[in-house]
Amino acid sequence: MNELVLPRPDDWHLHLRDGPVLRDAVAATAAVFGRALVMPNLKPPITTTEAARAYHDRIRLVAPPGFTPYPALYLTDATTPAEVRRAKASGVVLAAKLYPAGATTHSDAGVTDVRRLAPVFAAMEEVDLVLCLHGEVVDPDVDVFDREAVFLERTGSWLVETFPRLRLVLEHVTTAQGVGFVYSGHDRVAATITPQHLLLDRNDLFVGGLQPHHYCLPVLKRRLHREALLEAAISGSPRFFLGTDSAPHPRHAKESACGCAGCFTAPHALALYAEAFDQAGALARLPDFASGFGADFYGLPRATTQVRLVRRTTSVPQAYPFGSDEVVPLRAGGTVAWQVAPA
Ligand code: DOR
Ligand code: ZN
Repeated sequence: MNELVLPRPDDWHLHLRDGPVLRDAVAATAAVFGRALVMPNLKPPITTTEAARAYHDRIRLVAPPGFTPYPALYLTDATTPAEVRRAKASGVVLAAKLYPAGATTHSDAGVTDVRRLAPVFAAMEEVDLVLCLHGEVVDPDVDVFDREAVFLERTGSWLVETFPRLRLVLEHVTTAQGVGFVYSGHDRVAATITPQHLLLDRNDLFVGGLQPHHYCLPVLKRRLHREALLEAAISGSPRFFLGTDSAPHPRHAKESACGCAGCFTAPHALALYAEAFDQAGALARLPDFASGFGADFYGLPRATTQVRLVRRTTSVPQAYPFGSDEVVPLRAGGTVAWQVAPA
């Protein structure tokens, strides 16, 4: 197959940041994607419906017509069931994001004791607001590569058992255990999968020298986990769908003695997924993964417009403008095997 026409895809896990870089971040995604669930880990985080609405409006202001952002609500120890109800009623908030405090970039305001938020999860279950999980423990005694699996044992299972009607997304799943968690949960448990976790494994962090642009959280895992993710992505199961976790940082913040986590994939995200699906001989499964299952899960109609992917080796720039800075994309200076062409 040298060409694939699919409904305009959606990105169900995206970081757009705020302020002077917002326009560049939005442009990279909106060139291809129609809708995005936008993560709320700003400084300060989006902890209220009012803040989510204002962020939505700021994104719309710089976005091309036809792009719809859905900012998620950032859960803290102080989030209330009333806030959940306000969020649901707003129409712009489809989900709330649980960051264990300290788990990743800008998560210091996150949740310190997940079980104490039980009344919030009960309200989310009642009004059907999706819970997006950054599924990693922050326990310093747990090996960094095991943090997802241990989170699922300690907290994920409790959430699924205690709130059987709660719609739950294990964001950026990275392990075979994560895939197993999704399959063994009730039918409202799903996961997003990033392009980097489908294409890279932990060797890619170290081979040829330390690779800061491959560092994201949850960190890349062993090859066997990558294979489990690929199998899930191409399985045709509606529980696995596209969420890039494209997370732009200025070059100096990545290429530093203490580089921060996040891969910027937005400009070539669909091409990267196409590579992964194609290598697995499953390109025909890409449309549902990229443009169908996520919308179905969030109760939104599938897109009626289309995009066309053509097999064409395409250069990836060394960097993109990012406000007054620049951001280095995944595969910078290399190529991708597919290109989005006019439909
Ligand atoms: O690699 C990551 N970057 N993982 C996250 O969870 C957050 C993100 C970011 O905001 O940069
Ligand atoms: Zn993220």
